[in-house]
Amino acid sequence: MTYLITGGAGYIGAHVVRAMTQAGERVVVLDDLSTGDRNRVPEQVPFVLGSTLDRALLDRTIAGHAVTGVVHLAAKKQVGESVELPLHYYKENVQGLQVLLEAIAAGGVRQLVFSSSAAVYGMPDVDLVTEDTPCVPMSPYGETKLVGEWMARAAGRAHGISTACLRYFNVAGAATPELADTGVFNLVPMVFEKLTVGQAPQIFGDDYPTPDGTCVRDYIHVEDLADAHLVAARALAAQSADAAAATDASAAASGTARDLTLNIGRGEGVSVREMVDLIAEVTGHTEIAATVTPRRPGDPARVVAAADAIADELGWTARHDVRAMVTSAWEGWCLHHPEASAAVVPS
Ligand code: WQD
Repeated sequence: MTYLITGGAGYIGAHVVRAMTQAGERVVVLDDLSTGDRNRVPEQVPFVLGSTLDRALLDRTIAGHAVTGVVHLAAKKQVGESVELPLHYYKENVQGLQVLLEAIAAGGVRQLVFSSSAAVYGMPDVDLVTEDTPCVPMSPYGETKLVGEWMARAAGRAHGISTACLRYFNVAGAATPELADTGVFNLVPMVFEKLTVGQAPQIFGDDYPTPDGTCVRDYIHVEDLADAHLVAARALAAQSADAAAATDASAAASGTARDLTLNIGRGEGVSVREMVDLIAEVTGHTEIAATVTPRRPGDPARVVAAADAIADELGWTARHDVRAMVTSAWEGWCLHHPEASAAVVPS
């Protein structure tokens, strides 16, 4: 088994590479380094510079490395940017997946794990979001993830490819400081950035219909997320092995492929205020109180996963809590921003 990890030089991708190699799986990484960091890819892991839009490169990579499974993480993922540049997001996220699926089908690859997102749900008005909750994405980014799921499932049925679409909720934390997220596009690093320059963290609205008035989200440690990819990839491989053992290739393409769509969350809601207070405690930055600003357009009050489907299907559950996420994220932040740890006001 050799897995092609697209986007393996990114924050989440590098954690998936780490989890799979530590579990003894053979991987090869493809990344265009538009947002990824080459230094995140271990020296012993083969690296291919390029995009999933490059069909010839994909064909060469799949053949040259005898790829049997793909974990597709390469994508643009900023909600706000997707509103400004929708066609760029559709090209990278949808066309990029379409070309990859063509290469997978042509190359006889039988498994695909696809990085989807809770953004496909939009503003779900439910206590816990299940995989059957209607998908009404509110941004071009969320649309591209939903269209991606449709393409992956349709290609899977037509070409006998087992697929697992994993809907990430809010990812945070780091397995090691070196692998920490260097982007500042989500709550935890955005609060870190404010504290590092001595400014007040911002809470985007405290008049939501939630216990403390601030938005509630389901945070998942990136190490747990990476582990879920390993478990999903192995489940699809087992399915393909069973199908191949049972019949010949034509039968394998006749609908025996597996098709999973799974939330990846902890099933536990944490409010923005609770996260901001936890960050103050963990970083020692208790000297700067957060300020409440107007709501950010498009923010749902509550998005929390029902996490039992992945437990039932794959026997996977998250192991880390939000304190571990914040602590590991801060250690990574301080590695990349040495001025931050020095900024802590002596108690
Ligand atoms: C979380 C909460 C903000 C910063 C997005 C994508 C989703 C996924 C995760 C990729 C919100 C509040 C934030 C700040 C704040 N990405 N906030 N002050 O919007 O839940 O989800 O990222 O798959 O697809 O939609 O994450 O981290 O941006 O915000 O109050 O300085 O924190 O309003 O309620 P979000 P987020």
